[in-house]
Amino acid sequence: MEGIQIFLIVLLVILLILYFLKQQWSRRHFPPGPLALPLIGSIWKFNFGIGYNLDTPIKWAEQYGDIFTLWMGHMPVVFLSGFEAVKEVLIDHSEEFSERPQTPIIINVGKGKGIAFSNGHTWEQQRRFGLVTLRKLGVGKKSMEAQIEEESQQLVEVFAREKGQPFDPALPIMNSVSNVICAMTFGYRFPLEDETFKKLIDAITHCLKFTGSLFYFLYEMFPWLMKHLPGPHNEGFRAMETVFSLVKKEIEKHKEQKSFQEPRDFIDFYLLEMEKRRNDPTSTYDEENLIQNISDLFFAGTETTTISLKWAILVLANHPDIQDKVYKEIEDVLSSSFFCYQDLKKLPYTNAVLHEIMRSKYPSLFGVPRQTATDVKIRGFLIPKGTTIIPDVRSALLDSKHWESPKEFNPKHFLDQDGYFVAREEYLAFGAGARVCLGEHLARMEIFIVLVNLLRAFRFQLPPGVKELNEDPEVGFITPPHPYKLCAVPRCSSS
Ligand code: HEM
Repeated sequence: MEGIQIFLIVLLVILLILYFLKQQWSRRHFPPGPLALPLIGSIWKFNFGIGYNLDTPIKWAEQYGDIFTLWMGHMPVVFLSGFEAVKEVLIDHSEEFSERPQTPIIINVGKGKGIAFSNGHTWEQQRRFGLVTLRKLGVGKKSMEAQIEEESQQLVEVFAREKGQPFDPALPIMNSVSNVICAMTFGYRFPLEDETFKKLIDAITHCLKFTGSLFYFLYEMFPWLMKHLPGPHNEGFRAMETVFSLVKKEIEKHKEQKSFQEPRDFIDFYLLEMEKRRNDPTSTYDEENLIQNISDLFFAGTETTTISLKWAILVLANHPDIQDKVYKEIEDVLSSSFFCYQDLKKLPYTNAVLHEIMRSKYPSLFGVPRQTATDVKIRGFLIPKGTTIIPDVRSALLDSKHWESPKEFNPKHFLDQDGYFVAREEYLAFGAGARVCLGEHLARMEIFIVLVNLLRAFRFQLPPGVKELNEDPEVGFITPPHPYKLCAVPRCSSS
C-alpha cells in the first residue's frame, strides 16, 4: 500500500515537472521575465501583489530589459519600460498596439461596449462620436471654460468655509471635478448635498479602489473560481452596477423630456444620433454603448483629474518658494480677474510647474493597458495577436536617460535657460497615438483654471507643527497621495 502511495506521488511530481517544462518551451518566444510557475504564473515574485510598489516594474526592467513578460496565471502581460520602448508602442507601432485587452473583468463589466475598453468598429465609431461631441459641448472653447470657472468658484467657497484651519481637500475637489462631467453628460450640476450625487461619487471611488486590489487580480486570473466566492470583488461589481443604473436613470429622464430635439448635453446628442442612424446597419449607436460611454467619462475623467489636483496642492504646500513664484507670475501677467485657458501660454513658469506635477506625481500606476491587434515583431520578439501590453507611461516619465533629476520635483525639466516653457516629447502623461486620452484637453483646462482660482484666493500652508506632507503615493491602479490636511489661508487676510 505504502509503495503505491510513493509511486503515485513520484508520478505526480514527474507530471508536474513535465507540464512545467512544456509550459516553459511553449512560452520561449515571449520576452524574459520572472519565473512563471504552473497555475499562479509570476505573481509569487511580487508577494501576490502585496509587495508591489511604484519601483517594482522599473526594477524588473533593470533586471530583464526594457521589454519583459509577467505571467498572471496563464495570461502573459508584456511590459515595455522607458521612454524609447513606450514610444515604440504608442507612436511608432500605434495601429498594431491599438486595442484594449478583453480580460474576464472587462468582458464581464464592459461587454465590449463604450470607448475606453471596446475595440474594432464599435470603438472607432464611439470614439469619433465622443471626440466630436466633447467639442460640440465646448471642450477647447469658452463655454466649457465658463462651466469650469463656475465649479472653481464653488470650490473656492468651500475652501473659504474652513477659515484657514487644517482640512482635507479631497472630497470637495472630487465633487467639483465630477460636477464638470455631470454638467457635460447630464446637462446639469448637482448640489453637493444631493444624495444621488453622493451615491455616484461613492460608487466611482469604490470601483477605482477595487481595480488596484488583490481581489481584482485574483478575479482576472481565476474568474471561474472567483465568481462563485464571496469577497470584496462582488462589492466592486455592485459599485459598477450602481454607476450604470444612475446613468440609465438619467437617460430615461432625457427620453421622457425629449430634450434631444434641441440637444444640450452628451445624452441628448447621443439619443439624436441613435434616432438618425436607426436604419443604418453599420450603426453601433445603442443604449448600452451610451451607458458605457458615460461611465467611461466618469471613470477615466474624475479620479485622474482629482488626484492631479490633490497632488498639485500638496506639492505647492510642501514647496512654498515655488508656490509663491507661481502666484507672482499669475498676478503679474493676468492683470484682471478674468482669464482664459489660452493665458497659460503667457505663464511659462506656471505651465512648467503644472507639467512637472503631472510628471513627478503621475496619477496612475502605469497608464492604461493595450492589446496587440495583430502579431507584432518588436525588439526581436514576436508578440502574438491578443496579448496584453503595458506601455509603462510612468517609466517614461521617470526615465533617467531623459530627465535630469527624475525622482525630484524640478520645474526646470520644462524650462529652457531663458525661462521659456519647453514641451517635451517624453511627457506621455496622456498616452499617445490612436488611443490617446480623449479628455486630455478637458483635463488640462480643468487643472489650470481650478488652480489659478485657488491660488488667487489662498496660500496653501502646512498645518502648525507639520514639517512636510507625505509625498509617497498610495499604490493601486491609481496613485493618489495619502489622505492629508492642509490650511488654505485666505490671501486677503494673510497679507
Ligand atoms: C489628469 C487627467 C488624466 C490623465 C492623466 C489621463 C490619462 C489617460 C491615459 C494615459 C489614457 C490611455 C491612453 C493610451 O492608451 O494611449 C487615457 C485614456 C482615456 N481617457 Fe484620460 N486622462 C485624464 C483625464 C481624462 C478626462 C477628464 C477624460 C474625460 C472626461 C478622460 C477620458 C479618457 C478616455 C475615454 C480614454 C480612453 C480612450 C480610448 O481608449 O480611445 N481622461 N487617459
